[in-house]
Amino acid sequence: MSMSNGQWKMENVKCERSEPVIHGVCNGENERSEPGRLESGGVDNGRLNKFIKTKDGSFTLKSEKYNECYHSSEGAYTESLYKHVLPGYTVAEKFDYYGGEIRILDICFGLGYNTLTALLHKPKNVKLKIFSPELDLKLIKSLKHFKYPEKFENLLSVINDISRNLYYKSDNVEIEIFNGDAREYVKKLSDIHIVYQDAFSPKVNKELWTMEYFKNISEILHKNSIITTYSVATPVRCAFYKLGMNIYTHPYDEIRKGTIASYAKLDFPKVDFEEKLKRVKCITY
Ligand SMILES: C[S@@+](CC[C@H](N)C(=O)[O-])C[C@H]1O[C@@H](n2cnc3c(N)ncnc32)[C@H](O)[C@@H]1O
Repeated sequence: MSMSNGQWKMENVKCERSEPVIHGVCNGENERSEPGRLESGGVDNGRLNKFIKTKDGSFTLKSEKYNECYHSSEGAYTESLYKHVLPGYTVAEKFDYYGGEIRILDICFGLGYNTLTALLHKPKNVKLKIFSPELDLKLIKSLKHFKYPEKFENLLSVINDISRNLYYKSDNVEIEIFNGDAREYVKKLSDIHIVYQDAFSPKVNKELWTMEYFKNISEILHKNSIITTYSVATPVRCAFYKLGMNIYTHPYDEIRKGTIASYAKLDFPKVDFEEKLKRVKCITY
């Protein structure tokens, strides 16, 4: 729905994020979101006039710059929960919550679903420190008007603080948004326990999927850390493999599979990547 000549009108928006075919490695199965028609709605408020309703009822946007949606059509909230937040906390619990403070790197902030869902499901008696780069300052500033799921209603002050100051702090939570290039920001961090790797697809956001980028990420990880991503592309998994990481998928049926990478052995379903490499070359982006 959008405002035109003073009247609301419904629109259908196609929401798709694809990963390219490179060097004969076909990743056609790796699209983040199914092609499909999604309901869109919104308010007359600049770029936020194109809210797109995903299958779980939560809203996302489509980026004009990248020509991709910020989330899969399966559900903006559902994707954050099952692909990123629950796997991350499962591993954090296995390692005794890293002594009581979990340090999360959210690549990149976008509409903030991953960070906000992490807050919503924060384990009791644990501190959270979230670091999140984001190039698009205008987007962050506009988030106080975004139509978030009702379950985020207690997080309104967090959203407002982030939108105004790129920062939020309470007794148990600290969130820092860096307005700039993620590649530079990550070099300043250390001892990260969980990485939500949630850039746009490699096709349009290539700099955040290269071997060099993942090598830089690997250098700031705690030894029992985990990287979660929606991507199941061979070049992405290959980067993790070349870094000596184990490759898993999440165990949930609620949403399509993604990839979980970790130096530590985990209890998630394992991807037999060596078997795959008998058939395809290990090429990274
Ligand atoms: C798919 S969206 C992230 C969605 C977000 N995780 C959420 O849950 O709403 C990708 C975001 O990465 C940002 N971005 C892309 N390249 C970047 C870079 N090199 N440095 C920082 N931010 C970048 C885009 O502006 C966009 O907001």
